[in-house]
Amino acid sequence: MAIIPVAGVGTRLRPHTYTTPKVLLHVAGKPILAHILDDLPALGIREVVLIVGYMGDLVREYMDRHYRELRVHYVEQPERLGLGHAVSLAEPHAGDRPILIILGDTIFEADLRKVLSGSDHSIGVKEVEDPRRFGIVELDGTGKVVRLVEKPPHPTSNLAIAGVYYFTHGRPLFDALRDLTRRDIRTRGEFQLTDAMQMLVESGATLRTFPIDGWYDCGKTETLLETNRVLLDKRGCGAEVAGSVVRAPVVIADTAVIESCILGPHVSVAAGARLRNAVVRDSIINENAVIEDILLEGSVVGEQATVRGGFKRVSVGDSSEVRYP
Ligand code: UTP
Repeated sequence: MAIIPVAGVGTRLRPHTYTTPKVLLHVAGKPILAHILDDLPALGIREVVLIVGYMGDLVREYMDRHYRELRVHYVEQPERLGLGHAVSLAEPHAGDRPILIILGDTIFEADLRKVLSGSDHSIGVKEVEDPRRFGIVELDGTGKVVRLVEKPPHPTSNLAIAGVYYFTHGRPLFDALRDLTRRDIRTRGEFQLTDAMQMLVESGATLRTFPIDGWYDCGKTETLLETNRVLLDKRGCGAEVAGSVVRAPVVIADTAVIESCILGPHVSVAAGARLRNAVVRDSIINENAVIEDILLEGSVVGEQATVRGGFKRVSVGDSSEVRYP
């Protein structure tokens, strides 16, 4: 079973997360959550615990509409007390079963088949240049985790914890999480999953790591756009739209209406969006947005939002120069 915590507020993605939970924001043609869920059935995972909080009702509605084939349990995290706390709430559903934990804002590529057939708990890691922004793991010579630290000021390893974890059975993790909350061990005010895993290591448990090949952050507008570019380069395609010019890669929903535009590269247009007389590149246009008479790049336009420009009128004399920044 998979546990996906999605209770966070997504402050770094405001204003979009004022009205849409972060996991439902579109990137490369579908919501972040869909990128995660669509990979699960191929791994034989058909049961999911979603830890919901902020705008959880919208997440439920989305799941009811699109993922009826999955068995989904919802657990409310009433207070955002940290990732460790969020995961601990899944215990009644997960018990001692094998669990795959994936953070709700983490799109990744990894050979999970191999991980799920392994006999040790295992943490997805990626080498990074600046480990201070991440949780990190230190390994011994045999690849066993000997220490985990959340956002270390003086990192001793460049292996960042990427937000994907596998536990061969849930009980030891849930016991450690219970211990963490009982002893009120917080880092930066929150119950951290990293701290619970450190307690597991200290109690003698074996934790190993597995490589995350692609790691696509969706936490901020810039990284959401970067993820959009990278995923479209990998998976996107071209499109033919009569009366418009499309430069691949792009994803355009069937129900979007495009009229006299130049689109792409790296544009995602969601269902019901209407674009007219516009030049758009490197942008995410969400459902039912309206874009007219404008040049856009590096932009994220929310659902039902309207962005309207206009054509310039000039009377420019000979040898003059007019610039629009
Ligand atoms: P983040 O630390 O990115 O928090 O959580 P956030 O709220 O989503 O975003 P910011 O920092 O406010 O911009 C990583 C993942 O863990 C979940 C979040 O929903 C996100 O999927 N999470 C985090 C919880 O479910 N509960 C928590 O208490 C903390």
